[in-house]
Amino acid sequence: MPAQIISGTEIAKQIREELRQEIAELKEKHNLVPGLATVLVGEDPASQVYVGQKEKTSLALGIYSERHDLAADTSEEKLLSLVDKLNKAPKIHGILVQLPLPKHISETRVLYAINPKKDVDGFHPVNLGKLVIGKPDYLPCTPHGIQQLLVRSGIETSGAEVVIIGRSNIVGKPIANILLQKKEGANATVTVCHTGTRDILLHTRRADIIIVAAGKPKALTADMVKDGVVVVDVGVNRVGKTAEGKAILVGDVDFDAVKEKAKAITPVPGGVGPMTITMLMLNTVKAAKMATGLV
Ligand SMILES: NC(=O)c1ccc[n+]([C@@H]2O[C@H](COP(=O)([O-])OP(=O)(O)OC[C@H]3O[C@@H](n4cnc5c(N)ncnc54)[C@H](OP(=O)(O)O)[C@@H]3O)[C@@H](O)[C@H]2O)c1
Repeated sequence: MPAQIISGTEIAKQIREELRQEIAELKEKHNLVPGLATVLVGEDPASQVYVGQKEKTSLALGIYSERHDLAADTSEEKLLSLVDKLNKAPKIHGILVQLPLPKHISETRVLYAINPKKDVDGFHPVNLGKLVIGKPDYLPCTPHGIQQLLVRSGIETSGAEVVIIGRSNIVGKPIANILLQKKEGANATVTVCHTGTRDILLHTRRADIIIVAAGKPKALTADMVKDGVVVVDVGVNRVGKTAEGKAILVGDVDFDAVKEKAKAITPVPGGVGPMTITMLMLNTVKAAKMATGLV
């Protein structure tokens, strides 16, 4: 049977429609407009695209959006003072500082300075700690998006052998912690692989679900998986340009070969990508509700 192609584009659309309705209701019943501030330092083209998409999606859903573009040579002190101002701004419920930051600024110091209640990226240690103990306010956006892709595609995670390739703080570690919780849409047996893993095939070949966040094309090939596996491809790799100068993107999975063995698989683009921004919007709505005592 051909693999089910899990469309992140479609699932993100469903969730955005649910959010649009919830945001309209918050405005009508509680006079509450969720507010998101995005902060971009420098002119990295990919970051400019990401921040632009976040701004556009906020506006389309009825979220108040404030964009702060700072020059590449902005001092850490100036950035911290902006974060402090946004922490205190009543109209702003969520703050997103686009990474990476220029080398002369400490990402750790900046991310730690964001009020955890406004940390809609879910990267603050307070929020990561709450996730680990199973009492999160916010789930980091990409890992939460991956869980929603599985749940909304009817993939059973409870009791499943899940193998994650990659242990970054923004994808691998949080998705591992989300899926091992004793909760609905989780309750899996989770193994995390990385470059120190001695025999990766031993793990991937027995996995029911494989989540690949390695940042390398073809990090997962068909010989590494069993028949009927579910594969989520998080990777985004730029491998060249089209004749029109547009970036050619591929994931971390050898999609054409792996899909012949898989029960379900996410494409790149159109898989995890659209979910990340959508979960940021969901966190911003939650932040607004928390700030006003609605949750
Ligand atoms: N679609 C989205 O919204 C979204 C969001 C975030 C990230 N991404 C993409 O997802 C990918 C991963 O991002 P990241 O930030 O998690 O990457 P990262 O910080 O570079 O981490 C990569 C991880 O993969 C491991 N790894 C690399 N090659 C491996 C291999 N051949 N076998 C086993 N493990 C391997 C590394 O192991 P070590 O720890 O041993 O070095 C590391 O833990 C990137 O392509 C990124 O662009 C997409």
